[in-house]
Amino acid sequence: MKTEWWKRAVVYQIYPRSFCDSNGDGIGDLNGIISKLGYVKELGVDVIWLSPVYQSPMRDNGYDISDYRAINPEFGTMEDFDRFLEQAHGFGLKIVMDLVVNHSSDEHLWFAESRSARESAKRDYYIWRDGKNGGPPNNWKAWFGGPAWTQDKATGQYYLHCFSPYQPDLNWEYPELRAEIHDMMRWWLDKGIDGFRMDAISFISKPQDFPDGEAKQYVPNGPRIHEYMREMRTEVLSRYDVMTVGETGGVTVDDAIQYAASDGSELDMIFQFEQQELDGGETFKWNDRKINLAELKEVLSRWQNRLFNRAWNSLYWCNHDQPRIVSRLGDDGEYREKSAKMLATCLHFMQGTPYVYQGEELGMTNVPFADIDDYRDLESINAYESLVVQEKRIAKEDMLRYLGRKSRDNSRTPMHWNGGTNAGFSDGKPWIMLNPNYVTINAEEQMQRAGSVFAYYKNLIQLRKKMDIITFGDYQLLLPNDQHLFVYTRSLLQEELLVVCNFTPNEQNFALPERFCGAQVLISNEEDPVYGGVLKAFGTAVFYIKK
Ligand code: GLC
Ligand code: CA
Repeated sequence: MKTEWWKRAVVYQIYPRSFCDSNGDGIGDLNGIISKLGYVKELGVDVIWLSPVYQSPMRDNGYDISDYRAINPEFGTMEDFDRFLEQAHGFGLKIVMDLVVNHSSDEHLWFAESRSARESAKRDYYIWRDGKNGGPPNNWKAWFGGPAWTQDKATGQYYLHCFSPYQPDLNWEYPELRAEIHDMMRWWLDKGIDGFRMDAISFISKPQDFPDGEAKQYVPNGPRIHEYMREMRTEVLSRYDVMTVGETGGVTVDDAIQYAASDGSELDMIFQFEQQELDGGETFKWNDRKINLAELKEVLSRWQNRLFNRAWNSLYWCNHDQPRIVSRLGDDGEYREKSAKMLATCLHFMQGTPYVYQGEELGMTNVPFADIDDYRDLESINAYESLVVQEKRIAKEDMLRYLGRKSRDNSRTPMHWNGGTNAGFSDGKPWIMLNPNYVTINAEEQMQRAGSVFAYYKNLIQLRKKMDIITFGDYQLLLPNDQHLFVYTRSLLQEELLVVCNFTPNEQNFALPERFCGAQVLISNEEDPVYGGVLKAFGTAVFYIKK
């Protein structure tokens, strides 16, 4: 049987606003991306996941779409998009687009019509309910702060918005809405795109009695979600050779086995959030907590083992919603390069499709934002406003530190192309501050240096292409309770790999299993890894044997 191409692929995520600005307005755009396709190709990836470039008022940087079939003028025109698609294909790169259909923008024409009157033909495109006891229909809170319902003047009814009031939820219960979305998806696929990354897709089916309680308990994996996924497969996806990845907050391993089942009835793979929530707490992600390594190993290993032969994993540390991984799990000072390589090794040798987020391949770090005015992200600004200003639950300096650790803006500052003006990102003033460390951390410098993080990622990607065991081998965790080392094996027929990663800034003792003594070292960030039974600070190595 032929392997689905996306099982062998490596994906590179581009956040268009911050990738490359071609016309000096300080905002990245499609022509900028076109000018950097050679760079993406050089890294060796197969697929680009393009974050939204659709028409949008940009309240949530494009995750609030006002026209699904138009390009936002800040990013270019539809002709620019077509050229981008053609040139990317010319480089042998596939293009996966973001599909944001849990909600639209409140400026979408559908919403204008829907809100205008109870009798409007598009009323049921969105979720309208009467209030209860002088308040909203239930007590759900929105992900980006405040109640999940807003009362609308025209009719006095409330509309549901799981994220911000600018992002009204679409009503998937309504067959016409679903048909409209399917039609739009076919329109893009007919243009020749190669798949979709589906935003917040686990949220699209809501229990219709809208019970009081925590939204995060009721919204993910609603009653009809798998029906909608299978319908989308039949109506749209089954007609094309494409890849799909669902962003699925609130899914467990068991849910994933259904969403990403090997029989291809729903999606090809999903992004899980368990690994990201390990340092969460009472005030959501805003705290000083560190991820516990034993817990991280438990989560990732459970996903590796349970999905094996049943479903397919996606592998990611970073995206536009997460802080930079070297700052979160590695060391963004002295050991920045070593820890960036260690983290990459740990992830890229697992089973699944790896995702690299722009700048991750350079070991880009979190950003020294000085004050709340430096932030642009609506989630960060709203969280500050409610936790510090209104509820006074967190002191200002604490919240600034938490934002510095976890804000989504840490990964949204401009890409570092070179050490010159604005990191080579733009001739104008960038829409968000630059990370000042671009002077030393940038693509130009790393592309010409053999030991760079960029060179290391290239090597990792090449190894995956050469060795079937990385795609197909089974996985076994060693030393599950060790708080310093992440060690696992992969095996396929006569071959075996041993992956050893030191997650600490100290030397750690590690006894190589006997069968690996004298084994070939496939890749490492050390000259002589595990020499004398010691793995240096943030050291990593992959050993290979063939029996
Ligand atoms: C997803 C996106 C995020 C966005 C949210 C609402 O989580 O990745 O950036 O803010 O959905 O669309
Ligand atoms: Ca621009």
